[in-house]
Amino acid sequence: MAESIFPADFLWGGALAANQAEGAYLEGGKGLTTVDMIPHGKDRLAVKLGQEKRFALRDDEFYPSHQAIDFYHRYKEDIALMAEMGFTVLRTSIAWSRIFPNGDEQQPNAQGIAFYRDVFNECKKHGIEPLVTLCHFDVPMHLVREYGSWRNRKMVEFFAHYARTCFEAFDGLVKYWLTFNEINILLHSPFSGAGLVFEKDDNQEQVKYQAAHHELIASAWATKIAHEVNPANQVGCMLAGGNFYPWSCKPQDVWAALEKDRENLFFIDVQARGAYPSYTRRLFKEKGIAIAMEPGDAEILKNTVDFVSFSYYASRCASAEMNEQNTNAANIVKSLKNPHIQASEWGWGIDPLGLRITMNMMYDRYQKPLFLVENGLGAKDEINAQGEINDDYRISYLREHISAMAEAIEDGIPVMGYTSWGCIDLVSASTGEMSKRYGFVYVDRDDRGNGTLARTRKKSFWWYKKVIASNGADLE
Ligand code: BG6
Repeated sequence: MAESIFPADFLWGGALAANQAEGAYLEGGKGLTTVDMIPHGKDRLAVKLGQEKRFALRDDEFYPSHQAIDFYHRYKEDIALMAEMGFTVLRTSIAWSRIFPNGDEQQPNAQGIAFYRDVFNECKKHGIEPLVTLCHFDVPMHLVREYGSWRNRKMVEFFAHYARTCFEAFDGLVKYWLTFNEINILLHSPFSGAGLVFEKDDNQEQVKYQAAHHELIASAWATKIAHEVNPANQVGCMLAGGNFYPWSCKPQDVWAALEKDRENLFFIDVQARGAYPSYTRRLFKEKGIAIAMEPGDAEILKNTVDFVSFSYYASRCASAEMNEQNTNAANIVKSLKNPHIQASEWGWGIDPLGLRITMNMMYDRYQKPLFLVENGLGAKDEINAQGEINDDYRISYLREHISAMAEAIEDGIPVMGYTSWGCIDLVSASTGEMSKRYGFVYVDRDDRGNGTLARTRKKSFWWYKKVIASNGADLE
């Protein structure tokens, strides 16, 4: 076996999120959140995009998040499984509406605090460091209905209060924090990303970038608070990553790819460098956007993150001729289909070298430690007659990507850790399916919510255990 090139304190683990795992959507005093309103089925996309207003639940729809995989009641069993694989980090999120059911209260919900304290204590008991996202695709519905969600500047205060409450309540238990999951997804899936619903006469670009400004201020402010509460806290931003390749070496295609990259990196440019990048002046002018800023905003933005985290599923591809017809969405961001790479059953490209390329670009640009907090293959799994799940396709995907990450480390990039997505099967964010599985642990539940919820170790479970035990040296 080759020697490990991963640092001795490299954090190995997996990721999940409250909105796709916990279920128990009205238990423990929790309020409704955006994800609770997103149905499975034909209307899902329109609701996620903020094109169809869903402010009330309907009897004729199925909502996969309501029960999800019941992590809320089974977290002890699930964390024990992660510990058995040797996890040293578990990424999860706090559901904002468990802490503040409406989002605008002064006093937090004690049951919500107690729940997460138990979860984080359980991690600690097993020697697992929690990595916690404050907002992963769930905004309390009361804030959406009453304030228009992130359109409204008031959200900054609500979020800062929520963040402070969490930093104080979980001080000593959590030191790695992320503010907003895949913050750039706000542009591509505005309701699921940021609780935005559009009205008929909206300049949608204006609404989205104003909301982005509010999130960026909230994120920088939360970063400042985290450091005040405990200087040992480390806060990261989180990008839905994956570079755009130019379709050809035609200069117009190269320019198109650069512009598409900037669209996503804009957020991280602000969070990691502390100011709006120079290209936004022209971008906003051309899109007819005027951002309302308050005195002091430029100062707040200077509270930059400690590290840059990102998800990577696939690279993307752009040309000057790309349009609605010739693109499809992998991880929500529209891309041309790259003929040089394979794709998953859901059409998401498979490009391990693209991970190395993305990591090199990000480190060149930000010069901050990176943390790969989502990566994985969504695939259908089958249980054979012996009750086994032989997910060699998943092992092969992960092996290739971990190797690419190792190359990036060899390239000189400081990488804090790796948390593969959906370490236990959970609800798909894009489709609401359970059958799009990412886990090392299988959960008995189907797309309509049937099943016992029993957990079964897959072949990849044993493989990943070996990977962790060898600190990434043994990928066979
Ligand atoms: C990221 C999200 O977009 O990708 C996760 O942060 C999501 O919430 C993951 O689940 C995989 O996407 P999907 O659509 O396959 O669940």
